[in-house]
Amino acid sequence: MSEAVEKLTLVKTQAVFAPLVSEFKVAEHDRLNRDLVRDIMAWSEEEDGIVRSNVAGWHSDANIFKRPQPSFVEACKHFVEACKPTIARYLAKDGLKEKQFECEGWVNVNPPNAYNQVHTHDRYDLSGVYYVKVPKQSSKESGALQFLNPSYRGGPYSDLFTAMNPSKFTLNPSEGTLVIFPSAMPHWVLPNRENEDRISIAFNLRLK
Ligand SMILES: [Fe+2]
Repeated sequence: MSEAVEKLTLVKTQAVFAPLVSEFKVAEHDRLNRDLVRDIMAWSEEEDGIVRSNVAGWHSDANIFKRPQPSFVEACKHFVEACKPTIARYLAKDGLKEKQFECEGWVNVNPPNAYNQVHTHDRYDLSGVYYVKVPKQSSKESGALQFLNPSYRGGPYSDLFTAMNPSKFTLNPSEGTLVIFPSAMPHWVLPNRENEDRISIAFNLRLK
């Protein structure tokens, strides 16, 4: 070891400005997803849906937390539970005492070639996506969930040092996966290049 290093004491190295993305697997998701597909299909036949970030596809109203079908009730319970570890991690740090939640959630049915444009979920704290039906991917891009680094400013670092400065982070979640992320983080869903529908449920949570 060189003399220069011996005279240094490392006090602390910490990740700063590091958004947390968590992935959960829901138990018995085959059964839950069968029920969800049935109830989502019935819902999409009753209502025309709305347009938000979706390009083509069916986007339901954001009232899934108020719907009485047992499949939606069960899924929404998972959504809140999955946010709790992230909330607990920061509650003490921010001195927050209140643990009331306000939630909204909706269904995305993306048929072949449908996608969701880059967006954030403003006015909420944590967001998530649960995967109900995921067609077998013909490529890693098809239907992928991609987060964009909000602090990326081109290439101020060595091109080889992308670990410190990635522009994006891509996930290919399978059926039964629940992803939790900060609502302010820009993201989009790449076009579904398969011949089947891709179905997910997205939601937002804010602390009150
Ligand atoms: Fe989103």
